[in-house]
Amino acid sequence: MTDPTAPRPSPDAFPDTFLWGGATAANQIEGAHDQGGKGVSLQDVLPRGLTGPRTSHPTPDNLKLQGIDFYHRYAEDIALFAEMGFSVFRFSIAWSRVFPHGDDELPNEEGLAFYDRVLDELEKHGIEPLVTISHYETPLALAEKYNGWTSREMIGCYERYVRVLFDRYGHRVKYWLTFNEINSVLHAPFMSGAITTPKEELSRQELYQAVHHELVASALATKIAHETVPDARVGCMVLALPVYPLTPHPSDALAAMHADHANLMFGDVHVRGAYPGYALRHMRENGIELDITDEDRELLTHTVDFVSFSYYMSVCETADPELRTAGEGNIMGGVPNPALQASEWGWQIDPTGLRIVLNQFWDRWQKPLFIVENGLGAKDELIHVDGRPTVNDDYRIAYLNDHLVQVAEAIADGVDVLGYTTWGCIDLVSASTAQMSKRYGFVYVDRDDDGNGTLARHRKKSFDWYADVIRSRGASLLRGDGTP
Ligand code: BG6
Repeated sequence: MTDPTAPRPSPDAFPDTFLWGGATAANQIEGAHDQGGKGVSLQDVLPRGLTGPRTSHPTPDNLKLQGIDFYHRYAEDIALFAEMGFSVFRFSIAWSRVFPHGDDELPNEEGLAFYDRVLDELEKHGIEPLVTISHYETPLALAEKYNGWTSREMIGCYERYVRVLFDRYGHRVKYWLTFNEINSVLHAPFMSGAITTPKEELSRQELYQAVHHELVASALATKIAHETVPDARVGCMVLALPVYPLTPHPSDALAAMHADHANLMFGDVHVRGAYPGYALRHMRENGIELDITDEDRELLTHTVDFVSFSYYMSVCETADPELRTAGEGNIMGGVPNPALQASEWGWQIDPTGLRIVLNQFWDRWQKPLFIVENGLGAKDELIHVDGRPTVNDDYRIAYLNDHLVQVAEAIADGVDVLGYTTWGCIDLVSASTAQMSKRYGFVYVDRDDDGNGTLARHRKKSFDWYADVIRSRGASLLRGDGTP
C-alpha cells in the first residue's frame, strides 16, 4: 500500500503536544436507548443505516438500541483506551439524552449526569475529551415537528442545547466540534440534517436553506463558546474527500474542481466567515435564493479555531456522462479510481490522499487541523492465542500505519496538525449499514449482526501496535519497505 520510494518524514515528525486517540459517536456505542430519560433519536428508526428505509418507531432489529452498551461499560472501555496511551478521546453527546424531544423546557438531568461520569473517568486517566455536539443523532421529534434543519426553528433548539453543554461541561472540555461531517447533509439529508422529506423530493432550495441554518447554528455555537468558555477551542467537522480528475482532460479537472467546491464551501464559510463566490454562483445559477438575515451574516463572522475532518477515501470525477454513471465510490458520490484497491465495503484506500488533503486544507485555511476519523471497516475473525481471544488484524495495522506515515509527511510539509483519532477505536455499530460486522476497533466487541453475543471486550493485535505507536510518538511506524 505504501510507496517505498517516497521521502521519509523526519523521525520526530509528531510533536510532543500531538494528541493521539480514538473516536466514537453516542448513537453507535451507548445503547440504553430507553434508559436515563433518553428520548428517541433519528438513529433509533434507521435499522439499516443508509441502506434501508426508516421505520415509524424503534424496532428490535436496530443494533443501535443496544450499541455496545457503552452507557454501562464506559469505565472499562476508557481504561482500555488509557492502556493504549490515549491522550484524547472523541465522543459525542446524544442530544436526545439531554433534551429528549429537542425542545423540552428543561434538560434531562439524568442524561447530563451520565456525561459527567464519562468526563470523570477520562479525567482520572488524564485523557483530553473531544466532544461532538451533534453526530447524526438529532431527536426524532425535531425531525418530525420541523422537518429538521430546513426550519429556522432548529437554530434556537440547537442554541439552547449548546448553552446547556457549555454551562455544564465548559470548565472540563476544551475541544468542541459543532456538527459531525456537516457537508454530508448534501447526500444524507435525514441522517445528517434530520430532514424527513424524501431525498428525491427535496428541492435544492430547501436543502441549501437547511445547510445555511446549520452553518449559522455552528457559528452561533462558536460565538457562545468564545463568550462563555474562555479556554474553549471550537472546530467545524467536515467529511474530507479529495477529488482527482479521472483523466488529464481539462474538462475532467474542472468537474473535479466543482465536486471539490461543493465540499470545501463548508470549511470556507466556517473559516472565512462568508459564502465564497463560487458558492454564490452555484446558488444563483440553480435558482437557490437563500433566506439570509443581517443577523445571520454577522453570526457567520464568528469563525472556528480549528478545522477537523474525517478521512476514509478519495474519489475521481469526470465530465463524461457515460463514465460518470459507471459507479458510485461512496455516499458522497464520485467515480471509482482505477489505480486504487478498495475495502470489503468498496471504500477506496488512499493513504496519500490524506497528505494531499492536509496540505490542501492548510494552504487554504491556515488553521490547525485535527484528523478526527480515519480507519478501516473490515470483517474480523476471533481466534485464540495462548488461550486469549484476539484478532490478527494485520490489514488494519497496515491501513493505519500507512495513513499515519502520510500524516508525518504532511507535518514535515509544514502542516499544523493537532492530533489524530482513529474511527471506532472500539468496535461499534456502523453508521452507513448499521452492521456490527463492519469493525474498526483495536478492541473487539463480542456482538454479531443479529445482536447475539456477550458484549465482552478483547484486545486485537492492533491494540498493542497502536500502544507502541503512541508510546514511541510515531517512531515505530513502518514505511512500505519495512523500515522505520
Ligand atoms: C463517518 C461517520 O461518516 O464514517 C461515522 O462520522 C461513521 O459515524 C464512519 O461510523 C464510518 O462509516 P461506517 O458506515 O463504516 O460506520
